[in-house]
Amino acid sequence: MIEKINDLLARIEAFSSTDAKEIEDFRIKILGRKGEMNDIMDEFKTVAPELKRELGQKVNQLKNRAIARIEELKQQAEEKAMATPSSTIDDMSRPGTEEQLGSRHPISIVRNEICDIFNRLGFTVADGPEIEDDWHVFSALNFPPEHPARDMQDTFFIEKNPDILLRTHTSSIQVRTMEKQQPPIRVICPGRVFRNEAISARAHCIFHQIEGLYIDEKVSFADLKQTLLFFAKEYFGENTQIRLRPSYFPFTEPSAELDVSCNLCGDKGCNVCKGTGWLEILGCGMVDPNVLEANNIDSKKYTGFAFGMGVERIAMLKFGVKDLRLYFENDKRFLDQFESAI
Ligand code: PHE
Repeated sequence: MIEKINDLLARIEAFSSTDAKEIEDFRIKILGRKGEMNDIMDEFKTVAPELKRELGQKVNQLKNRAIARIEELKQQAEEKAMATPSSTIDDMSRPGTEEQLGSRHPISIVRNEICDIFNRLGFTVADGPEIEDDWHVFSALNFPPEHPARDMQDTFFIEKNPDILLRTHTSSIQVRTMEKQQPPIRVICPGRVFRNEAISARAHCIFHQIEGLYIDEKVSFADLKQTLLFFAKEYFGENTQIRLRPSYFPFTEPSAELDVSCNLCGDKGCNVCKGTGWLEILGCGMVDPNVLEANNIDSKKYTGFAFGMGVERIAMLKFGVKDLRLYFENDKRFLDQFESAI
């Protein structure tokens, strides 16, 4: 038996390979269930008791050595495989893996395009907080306390404190601008706004606005009209026409709503313009003198105009997306359809 042990030990030491499959075959041959090591164990059971001690030690050594040797060879094989460049890299004709580049969100695309048009007219972008106080969202904008006009915008209050709320429009940024700066003021205020509305295809509790404010000496309604006409032609096309309808906002007097001619049906009437040939896109008006005074601007010397539009609404018209919720779900199949240069 001792001979068998020595012979196997010699073969284990002599065996060498860097091929994983060969090493595994060798392991099965020696250490597998029907392997040589098991034969030796069976034979060991039959040896005379006085030899058991000495032989037992040898059998154990043999087994341990076999396990260690195979482990050693496996490791070497792995290192070698790592060091050799794989054949797939050598094949330069293989198609590469495509980089998955993100795309800009449609709301960002529309916001950037609109801001870009007003930038060219000399408006700069102003920013402000989403969590606001009553003064910046309502009081400074000529909403008297308990005025029913506050109900026009279903406000989210924070922790039942009626003074701290989520802004319902970005007019609050205009107030913050007037606080910091005397006229001439020419800003646009893009941002997220919040209103307590049930979510549906046509309404959402979060949406985006871009508001504009222009205050200087002798700013007139004609300036407002011309600015909006320029914007409408730039954004919806050279042939776009506008019309202003009288409206009401607490912070502007007079107030109006702006419609642009429907570029989808060419004024003929379709289901987007509901057969009228016109699309309503924004609210506007001359800044109420009370607003100027509340913000320490001399209403005898200065006049101004303001306007505000919903970015989702413009995006719906631009892309023909009929369900507002798509803008918030971030479904990649939806987002992948938009591309932009800015
Ligand atoms: N702040 C108004 C709104 O959210 C929009 C608006 C802005 C109207 C400026 C007139 C002038 O509905």
